[in-house]
Amino acid sequence: MIIETERLILRPFVEEDAQDVFEYLHEPAVNCFACMKLETLEDAKREMQKRKGETEYYFAITVKDTGKVIGEIDAYPESNEAYPDEDTIIDTFSPCWMLNKEYQGRGYAYEAARAFFDYLFSQKGARRIYAYTEDYNIASQHLCEKLGMRKEGEFKEFISFINNEDGTPRYENTMQYAILKREWPTD
Ligand SMILES: CC(C)(COP(=O)(O)OP(=O)(O)OC[C@H]1O[C@@H](n2cnc3c(N)ncnc32)[C@H](O)[C@@H]1OP(=O)(O)O)[C@@H](O)C(=O)NCCC(=O)NCCS
Repeated sequence: MIIETERLILRPFVEEDAQDVFEYLHEPAVNCFACMKLETLEDAKREMQKRKGETEYYFAITVKDTGKVIGEIDAYPESNEAYPDEDTIIDTFSPCWMLNKEYQGRGYAYEAARAFFDYLFSQKGARRIYAYTEDYNIASQHLCEKLGMRKEGEFKEFISFINNEDGTPRYENTMQYAILKREWPTD
């Protein structure tokens, strides 16, 4: 699947993306991506091997003019039924987004996320899209709000991604935002 916007192309990852992905995943910007840290370019190449079969839910965000991979966006279908079985409708998605810091503050994340939400709602059966973001992540909260997502709550000491210096878990306060298909504007 390819998603095109005014300035961007969202497409599946290919092996040749390793260097660009290494640039932004060598030092993940936020703790929630700590487990995705790539130590070496070789790790990035191996990661691209894993990602390259992902054609529906995991996209490289590339600049149309240059072809550079400046970030990524993904979301996988989840069930929201308490007791799922084989007939359960899978219609809930929770996106992750991240941009190379050199390309932030230019509206690229909003452009990519808007197109991705359009795709999930119109082509992938999404009924509800929700996002978790830490309370200190103002840029991500701002993006949720620009996308028209409702702030649904804040969970105190909800999750730990890294440990404190003394080895104890560092718990973070997490905000939840969401939007329903019927709330998503269709032009
Ligand atoms: C979260 C993240 C993706 C947001 O990226 P971003 O670049 O700040 O977001 P946007 O695309 O909305 O762009 C922001 C600003 O670009 C500016 N901008 C510059 N040129 C622009 C243009 N041509 N069109 C639109 N906006 C433009 C706008 O001022 C906009 O700010 P505004 O909404 O206040 O007007 C980014 O901060 C990031 O990658 N963070 C690290 C990873 C992360 O935290 N992920 C989320 C974990 S929960």
